[in-house]
Amino acid sequence: ERTAIIVVAAGSGTRLGAGVPKALAKVAGESILAHALRVAVDPELASRVVVVTPPGDGRLDASIEAARREGVEVLAVEGGQTRQESVAAGLAQIGQARRVLVHDAARALTSKAQYQRVQSALSNGAVAAVPGLAVVDTLKQVDRQERVTSTPDRSRLRAVQTPQGFDAALLRRAHAAAGDSGATDDAALMERNGSIVQVVEGEEQALKITHPADIAWAERWLQEQAV
Ligand code: CTP
Ligand code: MG
Repeated sequence: ERTAIIVVAAGSGTRLGAGVPKALAKVAGESILAHALRVAVDPELASRVVVVTPPGDGRLDASIEAARREGVEVLAVEGGQTRQESVAAGLAQIGQARRVLVHDAARALTSKAQYQRVQSALSNGAVAAVPGLAVVDTLKQVDRQERVTSTPDRSRLRAVQTPQGFDAALLRRAHAAAGDSGATDDAALMERNGSIVQVVEGEEQALKITHPADIAWAERWLQEQAV
């Protein structure tokens, strides 16, 4: 089935504070975007990759050019102020794809196997599939005064990652219905629209690089793989 991957890389990386858009920050000498595209641009995963870039900023172009590979169309499109807007901009460029995987560039070390677990769930009939890990901390729901209102059963909670895979038509519909909802992931929009979202196994290495310490963690992880 025809698949497109949207790699959202339009964020500014405020919490990382690298002085450049987060996708350009270096991990072991290569940009976060280059790491992400090394896996995503693979004819076995998708025939098109849409990279969503910071508005009015051509600095990601070199990483995008370098990632080009035979058998995959690689496009770039400008993103928006929120992740949701950036995904919507990407969705407008996926063409005839029936299936779409939305991936955070910031999850730079995500494996091909993770993409494949998501794809398998879709092939087995899911309309939405997201990788997730069991949570280690007990989580509390609080009110505006930081008073605990409930303690959800930890065994039933998952910390979700990307790529998140969807039936393209349903994701388009979910985005069109979403308005300015500020959702932090696309699965939430699908849930709101009544679709069942399947969780598949996630992985440590798909950590979202967010704070400076995460770069150090990623570099250590790469080094461990090399020996
Ligand atoms: N993203 C995007 N467009 C936005 C905001 C975020 O494409 N307007 C992307 C980021 O590039 C990233 C992913 O969504 O790959 C997850 O976002 P996050 O980790 O929050 O990245 P930033 O928004 O760049 O970081 P920060 O929130 O610290 O500024
Ligand atoms: Mg952000």
